[in-house]
Amino acid sequence: MNRHKKSMRSRLCAVVILALLVGLGSAATAQSAPIAASPPMGWNSWNHFATRVTDTDIRRAADAMVSSGMRDAGYLYVNIDDSWEGKRDAKGVIHSNEKFPDMKALADYVHSQGLRLGIYSSPGPTTCAGFEGSYGHEEQDAQTYADWGVDYLKYDLCSYRSIMEKQVGHDVIKLIEMEKAAYLKMHRALLKTGRPIVFSMCQYGRFDTWMWGADVGGNLWRTTSDIKDNYASMSNIGFHQDGLAPFAGIGHWNDPDMLEIGNGGMSDDEYRTHMNLWVILAAPLLAGNDLSAMSPQTQLILTNAAVIAVDQDALGKQGDRVLRDGYTEVWAKPLIHNAQAIAIFNRADEARTVIVDLARVGVSRHATVRDLWLHKNVATLHGVFTQVIPKHGSVLLKVIQ
Ligand code: GLA
Repeated sequence: MNRHKKSMRSRLCAVVILALLVGLGSAATAQSAPIAASPPMGWNSWNHFATRVTDTDIRRAADAMVSSGMRDAGYLYVNIDDSWEGKRDAKGVIHSNEKFPDMKALADYVHSQGLRLGIYSSPGPTTCAGFEGSYGHEEQDAQTYADWGVDYLKYDLCSYRSIMEKQVGHDVIKLIEMEKAAYLKMHRALLKTGRPIVFSMCQYGRFDTWMWGADVGGNLWRTTSDIKDNYASMSNIGFHQDGLAPFAGIGHWNDPDMLEIGNGGMSDDEYRTHMNLWVILAAPLLAGNDLSAMSPQTQLILTNAAVIAVDQDALGKQGDRVLRDGYTEVWAKPLIHNAQAIAIFNRADEARTVIVDLARVGVSRHATVRDLWLHKNVATLHGVFTQVIPKHGSVLLKVIQ
């Protein structure tokens, strides 16, 4: 009897210790998994729908994320951009407008698909499209978003610019301080809710945001003005991201703006170049096309797992330009296990035979070189890569030394 009691007691002890260990373990995991550990992936309504977006469009986008395989490829956030905002009530609480009858129900729907919901606001009194901003209501709005079940906030400077200029004129030092303070304020408000909410800073790269974005809580920050669905805009943004690599890392990323892939203004070669550049840059991958009417070609470009893996690589390093030779550019991104991704671009307005001595970018002759779009290894002659690349086209290679 005594022995039985003793063994019961020791079994109970073991269970309690185990429970404690499991508890500690999961607390440690929750703490050690930083928000935006890899560049956020998802979809945003702005590039295709602009201010026309409705609750139905968001639900359709969520459905398409699942049926197209995008969710399983890693695209998780379904982000409502500008124009969801209605008016504040007597207590100052923000409400969605008639296009979004029930935000909580929408968030529940998105979550039920295994996805996350993003929303948009501004530190100014109005957003860029003239809707209600969060000025003077930061904590209240953060709490409303958390209550709805929002997982991501894009916070767009917009009308806060005139607030700042009214207060401090054109004194750059004071402007920077005010801008930082505005973002920090919302970051703290989000933290206070206790809900993990990705914080996306959108102030177009003013005042070298990359130097201070992480200090004010940004998980990503725009480095440029708005992208447009044409090669000139996309390439002008992408090829000007050189030098920014040191500022990106796990939990905080440079954001050269959302993807235009599939919106119709570029060729498939150009869209592949868009993808290749963005993954080399460890950029957030936020598709911006109409997912419910996506061509098979667009779907293939957005969901290539090997290409996405370059972007999401666990080392968390952004790539940079390593060679420029006329119309040819070579960009490289270090990957985990001593591998690297190399993108070779033909920026000419015609197809060209591109010849790159890979030794010039640190690749040994014996390295395995794999083309991530053709899914096969590439033969090089004494380490020299030679290929005809179409106008504005590119190649993405993974090199294992
Ligand atoms: C700014 C942003 C865009 C978009 C619009 C919405 O222009 O840079 O990405 O959010 O506002 O009004």
